[in-house]
Amino acid sequence: MPSAISAHSLEKTYGSGEGEVRALRGVSLEVASGEVVALVGPSGSGKSTLLTSLGLLALPDTGTIRIGGELVVDAGVARGDLAAIRRSRLGFVFQRSNLVPFLTAVENVALALTINDVDARDAKDRAHALLASLGLGDRSSAYPEELSGGQAQRVAIARALAMDPPVLLADEPTAALDGPRSRDVMMLFRRIAHERGAAVVVVTHDHRVLDAFDGVHEMDDGILSERRSGAAHA
Ligand SMILES: Nc1ncnc2c1ncn2[C@@H]1O[C@H](COP(=O)(O)OP(=O)(O)OP(=O)(O)O)[C@@H](O)[C@H]1O
Ligand SMILES: [Mg+2]
Repeated sequence: MPSAISAHSLEKTYGSGEGEVRALRGVSLEVASGEVVALVGPSGSGKSTLLTSLGLLALPDTGTIRIGGELVVDAGVARGDLAAIRRSRLGFVFQRSNLVPFLTAVENVALALTINDVDARDAKDRAHALLASLGLGDRSSAYPEELSGGQAQRVAIARALAMDPPVLLADEPTAALDGPRSRDVMMLFRRIAHERGAAVVVVTHDHRVLDAFDGVHEMDDGILSERRSGAAHA
């Protein structure tokens, strides 16, 4: 079976001359369906650059990226409609929940479906069901400012999951949360991987939660290495 997402020999350089930064120096990574991996490493080592490349938000200078076996970036060049691939096959969660402030929780989640041409009524039903499955059934009509940090982050996760993407990418999703809430969110990622068969890649600085992962990859100055295998298997 092909990996849910794989990258091969990614290179990315920002700037030139004196200010040149080689953010990715030949990075390869494969993540299987149902697997949750952590990306750790010092500030500035290239973790976000790798995640935005995997997420097709900013392309590498060279290297290949496959999603579900399909070649979507070849030698740094897009193959096909990347925006459509992003909307339908990739889910993103960031450090801040970035919810639309004037939409309720359920409307925020439904929006991810309607922009993919799901009928509005259907979208709302699915958004309600998803929020309920994440323990937010009673908060679905709340506006973002009425939610706690952990609740808002769960709404953002629900939004990322709305299209049931095979790949979920998260950049420091628990940075704004306390220890227990942070662990809750990591356990939620594990559940998503195991129940939905999604491949999940999480950038984290939080060493308290590393045991929740199937594998830990360490980025150091643009080079990725497997640090150790996580202990966790359900
Ligand atoms: N748009 C950009 N233009 C120029 N340089 C950039 C840009 N984005 C990132 N960099 C540089 O590339 C390197 C890698 O940055 P990146 O954001 O990927 O690191 P990171 O591992 O995510 O760090 P952090 O843990 O602080 O979030 C850094 O030296 C950074 O300054
Ligand atoms: Mg970063």
